[in-house]
Amino acid sequence: MKTRIIGTGSCLPKTVVTNDDLSKIMDTSDEWISSRTGIKERHLAVEETTASMSIEAAKRAMENANVQAQEIDLIIVGTVSADFVTPSCACEVQAAIGADSAVAFDINAACSGFMFALNIADAYIRAGVYRTALILGAETLSKIIDWEDRSTCVLFGDGAGAAVVRADETCGLLAFDQGSDGKKGEVLACPGRTNNNPLVKTDRTLRYVHMDGQEVYKFAVTTVPASLQKTIEKAGLTAADIDYFALHQANIRIIQSVSKRLHVSDDKFPISLDHCGNISAASVPILLDEMNRKGLLKPGMKVALSGFGGGLTWASAVVEW
Ligand code: UT7
Repeated sequence: MKTRIIGTGSCLPKTVVTNDDLSKIMDTSDEWISSRTGIKERHLAVEETTASMSIEAAKRAMENANVQAQEIDLIIVGTVSADFVTPSCACEVQAAIGADSAVAFDINAACSGFMFALNIADAYIRAGVYRTALILGAETLSKIIDWEDRSTCVLFGDGAGAAVVRADETCGLLAFDQGSDGKKGEVLACPGRTNNNPLVKTDRTLRYVHMDGQEVYKFAVTTVPASLQKTIEKAGLTAADIDYFALHQANIRIIQSVSKRLHVSDDKFPISLDHCGNISAASVPILLDEMNRKGLLKPGMKVALSGFGGGLTWASAVVEW
């Protein structure tokens, strides 16, 4: 039994903020952001919330998969920016779509969140516990970013992506690899929930994401190609057999470095970071949905997916479409 992706959906906030827009409110430039990262613009939530974007992405994925809410057994949202500590974003999605018999919960694996959700769903499906799952990556990163720190705030965006996966006899997830390195957690962190009782003085800046960009960059360009290589070998394939690589969208230079290390043309690495920025857990499913809706993905194609980021965490998968 395999876990097959049978539908995708995504939702981006209405408001687009370009690099030039940012250069009017802080000391930065389109030239710096574009040349270092490949990002041109990002969508930022104004009216939207993590849950509202998740619900819209979920509905689009269900429509694309032709699946009704009553058929969904499991809902997992990968997020570091849910609207509430509780209820979870997944429970909000469950209520809004009317998936009354589903079990719903969130997971935190930062930018690997959607990939971890896929692997959890796969484990349940292969064990025969559940048949159909709705998995999402959803973020409103703009609320946990320090808008006075130009080294991070220009990089991130908001949005949600979803996929419906189902048990299938013929094709689906062929192999995966995932890992964590908690010892390096401080290189990309957002402390968030600091104590604020009357006995404790809280540093308000601890509420925001801070990142040692160069350390994260080094981690990404070594771990991601190694993880992809391992996963592709587990699937009994070589990098040349992969039709597309859908990677977490953090930086165009990371993606180019992975394509070089795997000796694969960068045409096989579709991009959404130019118009989305880095949306952490939502990057991979939004990219996958864009590829799906452009008609790039044909039955039988082999697609390698990879997420990497805070934790540190990483996860790769090879799927047969
Ligand atoms: O999703 C999780 C995974 N995250 C990642 O994969 C991020 C990985 N890291 C990166 O992509 C890159 O390290 C960054 C794009 C974040 C930064 O690029 P960099 O080449 O490592 O730049 P830097 O941090 O070394 O900064 C270089 C210069 C500094 O100025 P000085 O000290 O050389 O005078 C910064 O102050 O660029 C300056 N700078 C900026 N200038 C204009 C930093 N941010 C900006 C900015 N606009 N927004």
